[in-house]
Amino acid sequence: MNIAMLGSGFIARFYATSLHAQRRLDKITMVYSRQIENAEKFAEDFNLENFTSSMEEAIEHPKVDLVIIALPNHLHEEAVRISAQAKKPVLCTKPLGRTAEEAKRMLSMVENAGVFGGYLEDLCYTPKFLKSLESINNGTIGKVIWTKSREAHPGPHSDWFWDKEKSGGGAIIDLACHCVEISRNFIGKNIKPLEVMCWADTQVHPIEAEDHAIGLVKYANGAIGQFEVSWAFRGGMDLRDEVMGTEGSIWLNNFLRTGFEMFSTGQADGYVAEKAEVNKGWMFPVGDEAHDLGYPNMFTDMFTAIEEGKTPLESFYDGYVVNAILDAAFKSAQSKQWEPVVLEDWRGDDEVIEDKTLVSYDDDYFLIKEEVLPNQDIKVILKHKETQELIQRIITKQ
Ligand SMILES: NC(=O)c1ccc[n+]([C@@H]2O[C@H](COP(=O)([O-])OP(=O)(O)OC[C@H]3O[C@@H](n4cnc5c(N)ncnc54)[C@H](O)[C@@H]3O)[C@@H](O)[C@H]2O)c1
Repeated sequence: MNIAMLGSGFIARFYATSLHAQRRLDKITMVYSRQIENAEKFAEDFNLENFTSSMEEAIEHPKVDLVIIALPNHLHEEAVRISAQAKKPVLCTKPLGRTAEEAKRMLSMVENAGVFGGYLEDLCYTPKFLKSLESINNGTIGKVIWTKSREAHPGPHSDWFWDKEKSGGGAIIDLACHCVEISRNFIGKNIKPLEVMCWADTQVHPIEAEDHAIGLVKYANGAIGQFEVSWAFRGGMDLRDEVMGTEGSIWLNNFLRTGFEMFSTGQADGYVAEKAEVNKGWMFPVGDEAHDLGYPNMFTDMFTAIEEGKTPLESFYDGYVVNAILDAAFKSAQSKQWEPVVLEDWRGDDEVIEDKTLVSYDDDYFLIKEEVLPNQDIKVILKHKETQELIQRIITKQ
């Protein structure tokens, strides 16, 4: 496929590095940037045929088969509108919209035009994430009852992120969009998110938006998805997830302290990893940053889905659901109450599944807990099925 890249900044460069690595077939042939000199520099760096400072020209160019949106949040909708009009498949970076209303309009634009809309949620494509999801779907950890996803760093790298009007918010819109979608995948995308409780504050930076937030998303099956996001964390980029299931647990550390540590006295200046704050002393580099952040798997899924006429793992619809959850988080941070997730367009399971886990021990009792004691006796805690009485029994090792 011949790709038009819209934007020439941070994420556009990450995407281009992933797309042009390892002898991949799909190539960027055109770049749009507001300032022509930035477009030209990007084209030179990635050896592209064309560059322009007109978004329409980039999208409508006859040699372009597909559009990637790597622009600030307030420009996503306009870019989707032009792509849908041109009937070209479009992949949009996160967050899809600044609000669910905006995301819903974008979803309608691609669906009404009959074009492919892929949501570039890279953290749902990291090797560790995909392996975890496969294990969860195989039943390895039982029913997922709680997930926690954390993304925290010292703050983003461009002015527009800090402008609430352009970005749509602070750490919630920028980082919780990742955390919410990670949790949704682990809990099950067909399970309806019901309500959100969120604390948010501006603790450090002189901005209107929040630079730190913690939220709980309650799902229809009783599961809870927790997010922790910050633009005030010092020490690099902290990307961690935890999943608690009835039969097991998963802990994921994606970026800092992943088993690769390097010391330098600081003789050479250099890039260490995204948002790393130091380049001397003990540092935590990342082996293959693009791959560890999920970009190559993400593009492979997108291009394969287009070819096979399928829906990718992350679509515009997912982006819309994420925005609806974030809208409720912003509301809750204001009201200090649980706020409902308003989903005008819900395509998953509708019924509330109250899946309370009752494990039968024998005809009379449910099993609450079993534990091997230091002397190797086994202690079981039981609840009577009719009287509800709680008892314990000790099974002595023979
Ligand atoms: N992990 C991820 O998926 C990830 C990481 C970073 C950023 N992003 C997303 O990518 C998008 C871009 O972020 P970035 O980090 O590349 O930002 P950036 O500031 O580094 O780059 C933005 C690009 O848009 C251009 N631009 C800025 N204002 C413009 C305007 N008014 N009109 C036209 N062009 C304009 C800039 O010149 C630059 O080319 C955002 O939606 C952001 O949330 C995603």
